[in-house]
Amino acid sequence: MKNRLEEILKNIETETSQIKKFLKKTFMKYDRNNRRNDINNHYNEDPPSILEENNRSNLLHAYYRYIWNSNFSSPIEKNLHDGANVIDLGCGSGIWLKELSSEYSNSNFIGIDINEMFPIEKIPKNLKFIKHDILDGIPYEDNTFDFIHLRFMIKCFGPIEWKTLILPEIFRICKPGGWIEIMDLDTNLYNVGPKTENYSRKINSMLGPSKIDVDQLQDIMNIYQDLGITIMKEKINAWYPFKSQNSDKPFEMTSEILNSLYPIMSKVLNLNQENYAKLLEQILEEVAKNKTYGKTYRIITQKLTL
Ligand SMILES: C[S@@+](CC[C@H](N)C(=O)[O-])C[C@H]1O[C@@H](n2cnc3c(N)ncnc32)[C@H](O)[C@@H]1O
Repeated sequence: MKNRLEEILKNIETETSQIKKFLKKTFMKYDRNNRRNDINNHYNEDPPSILEENNRSNLLHAYYRYIWNSNFSSPIEKNLHDGANVIDLGCGSGIWLKELSSEYSNSNFIGIDINEMFPIEKIPKNLKFIKHDILDGIPYEDNTFDFIHLRFMIKCFGPIEWKTLILPEIFRICKPGGWIEIMDLDTNLYNVGPKTENYSRKINSMLGPSKIDVDQLQDIMNIYQDLGITIMKEKINAWYPFKSQNSDKPFEMTSEILNSLYPIMSKVLNLNQENYAKLLEQILEEVAKNKTYGKTYRIITQKLTL
């Protein structure tokens, strides 16, 4: 009788553990799918093609590199020449990594993204891309990377995810003495005229709700401050001709970026190509007259040495 009871109890235990495993797997899958849908739902209309999306990311990359006159602000140049481990989280089209891996051939570069938008052309040998959801953790050992980079990722996670998951994971995989750089946009536009404001409001609504307020950048800074040395740099992104630099480049690039948004914005605004071009002309005139600008930030932190 005792043996029989023990056998039944053992069976129940095995079954319970199997049920638990099954439920965990199902919930994880459900959660992951929801997250992917969340990302795709960013576009209320049909999501743009990967090629369109990558072209636009590459244009934005060129614009911000021009504005900052660099691809990063952390004092890591020498390490990159000597040989460092670098990771870009939420790397998108991978353009930032492609440029750095070509320039610093002694270093190793890894890009992670939940969506596979990685370059299809030949990539340098020291560059690798991985499709992975970083909310499932970052699949590397503690103290692996000399430089961790994230750009335009702030809205992808909510405050709790940043505090309890993303930042602890980033600090875990960063080597003591390594650098972490988060670059992001202030979503406000300054000196903005009515046509430009309406257009930018439409872009923001098309992108869907942000999971974090701009003010929460300060929260992230505070957490950083507790964990390491933090510097915040700010740049003005002029949309208008930048006369002080005697250059029309920001204006030309702004115009190119707005043009590249045609496949998405024409649907949102219900405009054909001709009318979209007319609207852009009016917006660019307004931008030049008002001297419209935005701001980007780079939050740079060094993980304290043990
Ligand atoms: C606004 S894009 C920025 C892309 C790139 N960092 C850049 O500067 O061009 C945000 C990127 O984060 C990726 N992403 C969002 N949530 C993610 C997650 N949980 N895990 C990995 N990648 C994620 C998206 O697929 C997208 O490529």
